[in-house]
Amino acid sequence: MHRPVLYHQIIHALRPSPAGLYVDCTLGAAGHAWGILEASSPDGLLLGLDLDPQALEIARTRLEPFGDRAILRQASYTTLQEQLRSLGWVAVNGVLLDLGVSSMQLDTPQRGFSFQADAPLDMRFDPHARLRASDLVNDLPEQELAQLIYRYGEEEQSRQIAQAIVRARPVNTTGELAAILINLSAGKQSAKSRRKKGSGRLIHPATRTFQALRIAVNRELEGLESVLPQAVAALAPGGRLAVISFHSLEDRIVKQFFRRESRDCLCPPRQPVCTCGHKATLIELTRRPVMPDPEEISQNPRSRSARLRVAERVSNSANMPAGD
Ligand SMILES: C[S@@+](CC[C@H](N)C(=O)[O-])C[C@H]1O[C@@H](n2cnc3c(N)ncnc32)[C@H](O)[C@@H]1O
Repeated sequence: MHRPVLYHQIIHALRPSPAGLYVDCTLGAAGHAWGILEASSPDGLLLGLDLDPQALEIARTRLEPFGDRAILRQASYTTLQEQLRSLGWVAVNGVLLDLGVSSMQLDTPQRGFSFQADAPLDMRFDPHARLRASDLVNDLPEQELAQLIYRYGEEEQSRQIAQAIVRARPVNTTGELAAILINLSAGKQSAKSRRKKGSGRLIHPATRTFQALRIAVNRELEGLESVLPQAVAALAPGGRLAVISFHSLEDRIVKQFFRRESRDCLCPPRQPVCTCGHKATLIELTRRPVMPDPEEISQNPRSRSARLRVAERVSNSANMPAGD
């Protein structure tokens, strides 16, 4: 069976137990969901969300043995509160976010996520969404395209890349875009500048631009910022939130959110008296992110950038936000 990234660490972090209520916000191929349902047998319930109907189909088949204990919906995790309300779930024991693109999506060329095959430049998690990657590549003014590639891809060559794309328009396939990026990199970039910061690993010249387009098409960072407070509000005291991210932009958002929510006061440090009244809602359980061990990375090289952060909802009722 397909073992998803940091599987054991997720089960350990969420501590699924009988009669518990759990939400997998990014169901994918249901590897984590399967583990949560198994560990919460015989009567734990799981709500699984995914934007991708293809993922839901795979998940539905895989989770069949659990019958009614798995409730699956094609929906964005940005609607988490609404989904829980419709089920009458007031407080849940665990929420999981395993962000980004799944192996199934990457390995299906027609979805347009991968620069390893030639296919329409799509990149939508939700195939009914309006915006495709080709719309951004062909319609954005050069400067906006450069900003997008810089911001979401952390790509230092963003201006040259945007210029080369604009010159080559229309760019309609992953192969066409990858060729532009490879040509540009062959001419301009030294191997050193294509090394991933920190790891020293060489990365493909298309990696950062493809990442940037995918994040923008699916509004991934906005989605993450929207779901984190909803997840905290949904947790019962002692309930846990686990987030796996795959790049520094996501990890930074999660880290800052956890830090902020685990503090009682957010006033500037020199202010003598607290005026914000903020109360901690979380206890951070991972000061440093948990990463896959070398064995997992050797079995599944795609797991190498995964970073897991876990936090627990405080038990003190004085710290519950209004509405809990
Ligand atoms: C890394 S995969 C999850 C893999 C899964 N944990 C497993 O065990 O197979 C991420 C999934 O999140 C989905 N996704 C991305 N953005 C989403 C959103 N806003 N709402 C719901 N699902 C989303 C993607 O379609 C993809 O299937």
